[in-house]
Amino acid sequence: MMTSMSEFYIVLKMPNIYIAERRLIMDATIDLPSGTHDPASIDKEHQVQIGMLDAFCTLIEEDKPQSKIQEVLDQLISYSEVHFMSEQLLMRMYAYPDYDDHVQDHEAMTDHLNKIKHSYTSDQAKMAIETAHNMKKFLIGHINTRDQAFSDYLSKMQST
Ligand SMILES: [Fe+2]
Ligand SMILES: [Fe+2]
Repeated sequence: MMTSMSEFYIVLKMPNIYIAERRLIMDATIDLPSGTHDPASIDKEHQVQIGMLDAFCTLIEEDKPQSKIQEVLDQLISYSEVHFMSEQLLMRMYAYPDYDDHVQDHEAMTDHLNKIKHSYTSDQAKMAIETAHNMKKFLIGHINTRDQAFSDYLSKMQST
C-alpha cells in the first residue's frame, strides 16, 4: 500500500544573509523497499538551521534593523518546526525505536526557540543571543548523536 501524503515547499529568501531552499516530499513509502528519503537532505537542513541561528546572532551583534532580525528569527522558528515535524514523521513511518527520546530533544530546542523569541521581543537581546548560543550547542550535539543515529537507521532501512 502506498500512502499518498502532501508535498510542500518552503523557500526561505533572506537577501545578503542566507538563501535556502528546502524541499520536502512526503510520499510515504511505508512498505516499499526503497524510499525517497535521502539522509543527505536532512544534513543539508541542519546546515540551514545552524546558519540561521548564526545569522540571528550576527545581525544583533551588528545592530541591524529590528525588522530584519525579527524576519530571520521567525524563519528560523518556522523552519525548525517543519524540520522537527518531518523528522518525527519519518521516524514514525519507519518505526524508529528511539522516537520518544528524540522528540524530547526537539521539544527542548523548541523551548529554546520560544525563549529566544520572548527575550528578543521584550528587548533582552543579550539574553536572546545567550540562549541562541546554548541552543546551537544543544543542536550540534543533537545532530551529531540522535540525528546521526536516525540517519544511519534510515539508510539501513532503505537499503534492505
Ligand atoms: Fe534534525
Ligand atoms: Fe532530530
